[in-house]
Amino acid sequence: MKRRSFIGKTLVGSVAALVTPKVLSANENRSFSKIHTPPKGPISICTWNFTTANAAAAKALESGTDALTAAIKAAEVEELNAQNTTVGLGGAPDREGTVTLDASVMDHTGNCGSVVAVENIVHVAALARDVMEKTPHVMLAGKGAEAYAKSLGYKHTDLLTAESKKEWEEWTKESQYKPIINIENHDTIGTLCLDKNGNIGGACSTSGLSYKMKGRVGDSPIIGSGLFIDNTIGGAVATGMGEEVVKTVGSFLIVELMRQGHSPQEACDEAIHRIVEKQGDTIDFQVAYIALDKQGRVGSSCIHKGFTYMHYENGENQNFEVKKYLHS
Ligand code: GLY
Repeated sequence: MKRRSFIGKTLVGSVAALVTPKVLSANENRSFSKIHTPPKGPISICTWNFTTANAAAAKALESGTDALTAAIKAAEVEELNAQNTTVGLGGAPDREGTVTLDASVMDHTGNCGSVVAVENIVHVAALARDVMEKTPHVMLAGKGAEAYAKSLGYKHTDLLTAESKKEWEEWTKESQYKPIINIENHDTIGTLCLDKNGNIGGACSTSGLSYKMKGRVGDSPIIGSGLFIDNTIGGAVATGMGEEVVKTVGSFLIVELMRQGHSPQEACDEAIHRIVEKQGDTIDFQVAYIALDKQGRVGSSCIHKGFTYMHYENGENQNFEVKKYLHS
Protein backbone atom coordinates (compact mmCIF):
# COMPACT_ATOMS: atom_id res chain seq x y z
CA MET A 1 0.00 0.00 0.00
CA LYS A 2 1.27 3.47 -0.85
CA ARG A 3 2.06 5.68 2.14
CA ARG A 4 -0.54 8.24 1.05
CA SER A 5 -3.34 5.68 0.86
CA PHE A 6 -2.28 4.22 4.20
CA ILE A 7 -2.49 7.65 5.84
CA GLY A 8 -5.81 8.22 4.09
CA LYS A 9 -7.19 4.99 5.47
CA THR A 10 -5.92 5.80 8.95
CA LEU A 11 -7.35 9.30 8.81
CA VAL A 12 -10.74 7.99 7.78
CA GLY A 13 -10.65 5.82 10.88
CA SER A 14 -9.56 8.74 13.09
CA VAL A 15 -12.23 11.07 11.72
CA ALA A 16 -14.87 8.42 12.24
CA ALA A 17 -13.70 8.04 15.81
CA LEU A 18 -14.00 11.80 16.33
CA VAL A 19 -17.47 11.97 14.85
CA THR A 20 -18.78 9.12 16.95
CA PRO A 21 -16.92 9.32 20.25
CA LYS A 22 -17.55 6.21 22.22
CA VAL A 23 -16.08 4.83 25.40
CA LEU A 24 -15.80 1.10 25.21
CA SER A 25 -16.81 -0.78 28.30
CA ALA A 26 -14.70 -3.64 29.57
CA ASN A 27 -17.26 -6.16 28.34
CA GLU A 28 -17.52 -4.77 24.85
CA ASN A 29 -15.73 -6.64 22.11
CA ARG A 30 -12.91 -4.30 21.12
CA SER A 31 -11.21 -6.72 18.76
CA PHE A 32 -12.05 -8.00 15.33
CA SER A 33 -12.41 -11.55 16.61
CA LYS A 34 -16.11 -11.65 15.74
CA ILE A 35 -15.46 -10.95 12.08
CA HIS A 36 -12.57 -13.34 11.73
CA THR A 37 -13.17 -16.43 9.70
CA PRO A 38 -12.22 -19.63 11.53
CA PRO A 39 -8.44 -20.14 11.54
CA LYS A 40 -7.13 -22.36 8.79
CA GLY A 41 -4.23 -23.50 11.02
CA PRO A 42 -1.95 -24.90 11.89
CA ILE A 43 0.48 -22.40 10.44
CA SER A 44 4.10 -21.70 11.27
CA ILE A 45 6.19 -18.84 9.96
CA CYS A 46 9.72 -17.85 10.83
CA THR A 47 12.34 -15.35 9.78
CA TRP A 48 14.97 -16.24 7.15
CA ASN A 49 15.47 -19.58 5.45
CA PHE A 50 15.42 -21.65 8.63
CA THR A 51 13.73 -24.55 6.85
CA THR A 52 14.46 -27.25 9.43
CA ALA A 53 13.42 -25.00 12.29
CA ASN A 54 10.09 -24.15 10.71
CA ALA A 55 9.54 -27.82 9.84
CA ALA A 56 10.08 -28.71 13.52
CA ALA A 57 7.41 -26.21 14.54
CA ALA A 58 5.08 -27.49 11.80
CA LYS A 59 5.50 -31.12 12.85
CA ALA A 60 4.69 -30.21 16.43
CA LEU A 61 1.63 -28.19 15.40
CA GLU A 62 0.32 -30.97 13.18
CA SER A 63 0.52 -33.38 16.11
CA GLY A 64 -1.59 -31.02 18.20
CA THR A 65 1.14 -29.21 20.15
CA ASP A 66 0.27 -25.72 21.35
CA ALA A 67 1.56 -22.67 19.49
CA LEU A 68 4.13 -21.53 22.05
CA THR A 69 5.71 -24.96 22.45
CA ALA A 70 5.92 -25.31 18.67
CA ALA A 71 7.52 -21.87 18.29
CA ILE A 72 10.14 -22.74 20.90
CA LYS A 73 10.89 -26.00 19.04
CA ALA A 74 11.78 -23.92 15.99
CA ALA A 75 14.04 -21.65 18.03
CA GLU A 76 15.77 -24.67 19.55
CA VAL A 77 16.81 -25.99 16.15
CA GLU A 78 18.78 -22.82 15.41
CA GLU A 79 20.04 -22.44 18.97
CA LEU A 80 21.75 -25.82 18.52
CA ASN A 81 22.96 -25.10 15.00
CA ALA A 82 26.65 -24.24 15.43
CA GLN A 83 26.85 -23.12 11.78
CA ASN A 84 24.42 -20.31 12.51
CA THR A 85 26.54 -17.46 13.85
CA THR A 86 23.60 -15.27 14.88
CA VAL A 87 21.69 -17.55 17.26
CA GLY A 88 22.68 -19.80 20.17
CA LEU A 89 25.71 -22.11 20.03
CA GLY A 90 28.32 -20.68 17.66
CA GLY A 91 26.79 -17.22 17.81
CA ALA A 92 29.22 -14.39 17.14
CA PRO A 93 30.60 -13.00 20.41
CA ASP A 94 30.70 -9.42 21.63
CA ARG A 95 33.83 -7.37 20.99
CA GLU A 96 35.49 -8.89 24.06
CA GLY A 97 34.96 -12.43 22.79
CA THR A 98 31.99 -13.43 24.97
CA VAL A 99 28.84 -14.91 23.43
CA THR A 100 25.69 -13.53 25.07
CA LEU A 101 22.18 -14.54 24.04
CA ASP A 102 18.81 -12.77 24.19
CA ALA A 103 15.38 -14.40 23.80
CA SER A 104 11.69 -13.82 24.39
CA VAL A 105 8.43 -15.74 24.21
CA MET A 106 4.78 -14.78 24.32
CA ASP A 107 1.70 -16.97 24.52
CA HIS A 108 -1.96 -16.71 23.60
CA THR A 109 -2.97 -15.46 27.05
CA GLY A 110 -0.71 -12.41 26.70
CA ASN A 111 1.80 -13.86 29.12
CA CYS A 112 5.44 -13.29 28.20
CA GLY A 113 9.00 -13.90 29.35
CA SER A 114 12.48 -12.93 28.28
CA VAL A 115 16.15 -13.35 29.07
CA VAL A 116 18.93 -10.91 28.33
CA ALA A 117 22.69 -11.25 27.87
CA VAL A 118 22.81 -14.87 28.96
CA GLU A 119 26.14 -16.73 28.83
CA ASN A 120 26.77 -20.49 28.71
CA ILE A 121 23.17 -21.59 28.12
CA VAL A 122 22.04 -22.80 24.66
CA HIS A 123 18.25 -22.93 24.92
CA VAL A 124 17.39 -19.40 25.90
CA ALA A 125 13.91 -19.37 24.34
CA ALA A 126 12.94 -22.26 26.63
CA LEU A 127 14.57 -20.37 29.49
CA ALA A 128 12.45 -17.31 28.66
CA ARG A 129 9.40 -19.56 28.94
CA ASP A 130 10.59 -20.79 32.34
CA VAL A 131 10.94 -17.18 33.49
CA MET A 132 7.38 -16.57 32.28
CA GLU A 133 5.86 -19.69 33.84
CA LYS A 134 7.92 -20.32 36.96
CA THR A 135 8.85 -16.89 38.30
CA PRO A 136 6.78 -13.82 39.17
CA HIS A 137 8.87 -11.86 36.63
CA VAL A 138 8.94 -11.17 32.91
CA MET A 139 12.66 -10.63 32.37
CA LEU A 140 15.88 -12.01 33.83
CA ALA A 141 19.31 -10.77 32.80
CA GLY A 142 22.96 -11.85 32.78
CA LYS A 143 24.36 -13.86 35.66
CA GLY A 144 20.96 -14.05 37.35
CA ALA A 145 19.39 -15.63 34.29
CA GLU A 146 22.29 -18.06 33.94
CA ALA A 147 22.10 -19.06 37.61
CA TYR A 148 18.34 -19.52 37.31
CA ALA A 149 18.83 -21.75 34.25
CA LYS A 150 21.34 -23.89 36.11
CA SER A 151 19.00 -24.18 39.08
CA LEU A 152 16.49 -25.72 36.67
CA GLY A 153 19.05 -28.17 35.28
CA TYR A 154 20.11 -26.42 32.07
CA LYS A 155 23.64 -27.53 31.30
CA HIS A 156 26.67 -25.25 31.10
CA THR A 157 27.84 -24.94 27.47
CA ASP A 158 30.67 -22.86 26.08
CA LEU A 159 28.85 -21.04 23.29
CA LEU A 160 32.00 -19.80 21.53
CA THR A 161 32.90 -22.41 18.92
CA ALA A 162 36.40 -22.66 17.46
CA GLU A 163 35.10 -21.22 14.19
CA SER A 164 33.38 -18.22 15.81
CA LYS A 165 36.48 -17.61 17.91
CA LYS A 166 38.67 -17.63 14.82
CA GLU A 167 36.40 -15.13 13.06
CA TRP A 168 36.32 -12.90 16.12
CA GLU A 169 40.13 -13.00 16.38
CA GLU A 170 40.29 -11.97 12.74
CA TRP A 171 37.90 -9.10 13.49
CA THR A 172 40.03 -7.89 16.44
CA LYS A 173 42.88 -7.11 14.02
CA GLU A 174 40.95 -4.04 12.86
CA SER A 175 38.12 -3.98 15.41
CA GLN A 176 35.94 -1.99 13.06
CA TYR A 177 32.32 -2.20 14.01
CA LYS A 178 29.91 -1.84 11.14
CA PRO A 179 26.55 -3.57 10.88
CA ILE A 180 26.44 -5.79 7.82
CA ILE A 181 23.20 -5.95 5.85
CA ASN A 182 21.73 -9.46 5.62
CA ILE A 183 24.73 -10.93 7.38
CA GLU A 184 25.26 -14.34 5.76
CA ASN A 185 21.58 -14.28 4.93
CA HIS A 186 20.43 -15.10 8.42
CA ASP A 187 20.00 -13.41 11.76
CA THR A 188 17.58 -13.64 14.68
CA ILE A 189 15.08 -16.48 14.52
CA GLY A 190 11.58 -15.19 15.16
CA THR A 191 8.73 -17.69 14.91
CA LEU A 192 4.96 -17.26 15.02
CA CYS A 193 2.67 -20.28 15.22
CA LEU A 194 -1.09 -20.68 14.90
CA ASP A 195 -2.12 -23.98 16.45
CA LYS A 196 -5.09 -26.29 15.88
CA ASN A 197 -7.05 -24.47 18.59
CA GLY A 198 -6.58 -21.20 16.73
CA ASN A 199 -4.15 -19.81 19.31
CA ILE A 200 -1.03 -17.84 18.44
CA GLY A 201 2.30 -18.14 20.23
CA GLY A 202 5.76 -16.89 19.37
CA ALA A 203 9.45 -17.04 20.19
CA CYS A 204 12.50 -15.01 19.31
CA SER A 205 16.16 -16.00 19.89
CA THR A 206 19.44 -14.30 18.96
CA SER A 207 23.07 -13.71 19.80
CA GLY A 208 22.52 -10.09 18.78
CA LEU A 209 24.81 -8.02 16.62
CA SER A 210 28.20 -9.56 15.90
CA TYR A 211 30.99 -7.95 17.95
CA LYS A 212 28.52 -5.74 19.77
CA MET A 213 29.64 -3.66 22.75
CA LYS A 214 29.75 -5.70 25.92
CA GLY A 215 26.34 -5.37 27.54
CA ARG A 216 24.53 -4.30 24.36
CA VAL A 217 20.95 -5.58 24.16
CA GLY A 218 18.81 -5.44 21.04
CA ASP A 219 15.12 -5.79 20.33
CA SER A 220 14.70 -9.55 20.61
CA PRO A 221 14.12 -9.80 24.37
CA ILE A 222 12.09 -6.58 24.52
CA ILE A 223 8.41 -7.49 24.46
CA GLY A 224 6.63 -5.23 21.98
CA SER A 225 9.81 -4.59 19.99
CA GLY A 226 11.24 -7.95 18.91
CA LEU A 227 8.02 -9.87 19.53
CA PHE A 228 4.39 -9.13 20.32
CA ILE A 229 1.22 -11.22 20.28
CA ASP A 230 -2.39 -10.40 20.97
CA ASN A 231 -4.32 -13.60 20.49
CA THR A 232 -7.48 -11.73 19.46
CA ILE A 233 -5.58 -10.09 16.59
CA GLY A 234 -2.27 -11.72 15.64
CA GLY A 235 1.45 -11.48 16.21
CA ALA A 236 4.64 -9.99 14.81
CA VAL A 237 8.38 -10.59 15.15
CA ALA A 238 11.43 -8.66 14.01
CA THR A 239 14.92 -9.36 12.76
CA GLY A 240 17.77 -7.04 11.88
CA MET A 241 19.07 -3.89 13.51
CA GLY A 242 17.46 -4.09 16.94
CA GLU A 243 18.07 -0.48 17.92
CA GLU A 244 15.76 0.74 15.14
CA VAL A 245 13.10 -1.80 16.08
CA VAL A 246 13.21 -0.68 19.71
CA LYS A 247 12.91 3.01 18.73
CA THR A 248 9.66 2.29 16.90
CA VAL A 249 8.34 -0.53 19.15
CA GLY A 250 7.90 -2.37 15.88
CA SER A 251 6.11 -5.61 16.74
CA PHE A 252 3.57 -3.91 18.99
CA LEU A 253 3.00 -1.31 16.30
CA ILE A 254 2.23 -4.01 13.74
CA VAL A 255 -0.26 -5.78 15.99
CA GLU A 256 -1.97 -2.48 16.83
CA LEU A 257 -2.22 -1.61 13.12
CA MET A 258 -3.80 -5.00 12.49
CA ARG A 259 -6.21 -4.25 15.34
CA GLN A 260 -7.23 -1.10 13.47
CA GLY A 261 -8.12 -3.23 10.48
CA HIS A 262 -4.94 -3.23 8.42
CA SER A 263 -3.76 -6.48 6.89
CA PRO A 264 -0.53 -8.05 8.17
CA GLN A 265 1.17 -6.88 4.96
CA GLU A 266 0.00 -3.27 5.33
CA ALA A 267 0.99 -3.27 8.99
CA CYS A 268 4.50 -4.60 8.27
CA ASP A 269 4.96 -2.04 5.48
CA GLU A 270 3.99 0.81 7.79
CA ALA A 271 6.36 -0.39 10.53
CA ILE A 272 9.21 -0.37 8.00
CA HIS A 273 8.13 3.11 6.81
CA ARG A 274 8.36 4.41 10.37
CA ILE A 275 12.04 3.46 10.37
CA VAL A 276 12.86 4.51 6.83
CA GLU A 277 11.23 7.95 7.02
CA LYS A 278 13.52 8.97 9.90
CA GLN A 279 16.67 8.10 7.95
CA GLY A 280 18.46 9.85 5.13
CA ASP A 281 18.83 8.36 1.67
CA THR A 282 21.40 5.88 2.79
CA ILE A 283 20.29 3.20 5.15
CA ASP A 284 23.08 0.73 5.69
CA PHE A 285 21.23 -1.57 8.04
CA GLN A 286 18.48 -4.11 7.58
CA VAL A 287 15.24 -4.50 9.50
CA ALA A 288 12.56 -7.02 8.55
CA TYR A 289 9.25 -8.05 10.06
CA ILE A 290 6.92 -10.99 9.67
CA ALA A 291 3.34 -10.99 10.95
CA LEU A 292 0.51 -13.50 11.21
CA ASP A 293 -3.11 -12.76 12.03
CA LYS A 294 -5.92 -14.91 13.39
CA GLN A 295 -7.23 -15.59 9.90
CA GLY A 296 -3.87 -17.09 8.99
CA ARG A 297 -2.91 -14.17 6.79
CA VAL A 298 0.82 -13.48 6.63
CA GLY A 299 2.67 -10.22 6.00
CA SER A 300 6.34 -9.38 5.66
CA SER A 301 8.32 -6.27 4.85
CA CYS A 302 11.96 -5.26 5.00
CA ILE A 303 14.23 -2.33 4.24
CA HIS A 304 16.68 -4.00 1.88
CA LYS A 305 16.45 -6.77 -0.65
CA GLY A 306 17.60 -10.16 0.59
CA PHE A 307 15.20 -10.99 3.41
CA THR A 308 13.37 -14.30 3.21
CA TYR A 309 10.96 -16.08 5.54
CA MET A 310 9.53 -19.57 5.95
CA HIS A 311 5.82 -20.33 5.75
CA TYR A 312 4.30 -23.70 6.62
CA GLU A 313 0.66 -24.40 5.87
CA ASN A 314 -1.26 -27.42 4.55
CA GLY A 315 1.79 -29.67 4.44
CA GLU A 316 3.98 -27.20 2.55
CA ASN A 317 7.05 -25.61 4.12
CA GLN A 318 8.18 -22.88 1.75
CA ASN A 319 10.75 -20.11 1.70
CA PHE A 320 9.60 -16.76 0.32
CA GLU A 321 11.75 -13.85 -0.69
CA VAL A 322 10.23 -10.57 0.40
CA LYS A 323 9.85 -8.47 -2.70
CA LYS A 324 8.47 -5.52 -0.80
CA TYR A 325 11.80 -4.03 0.23
CA LEU A 326 12.08 -0.28 0.32
CA HIS A 327 15.70 0.20 -0.66
CA SER A 328 17.70 -1.74 -3.23
N1 GLY B 1 17.57 -8.23 16.06
C1 GLY B 1 18.59 -8.71 16.89
C2 GLY B 1 19.37 -7.68 17.57
O1 GLY B 1 19.43 -6.55 17.12
O2 GLY B 1 19.97 -7.98 18.56
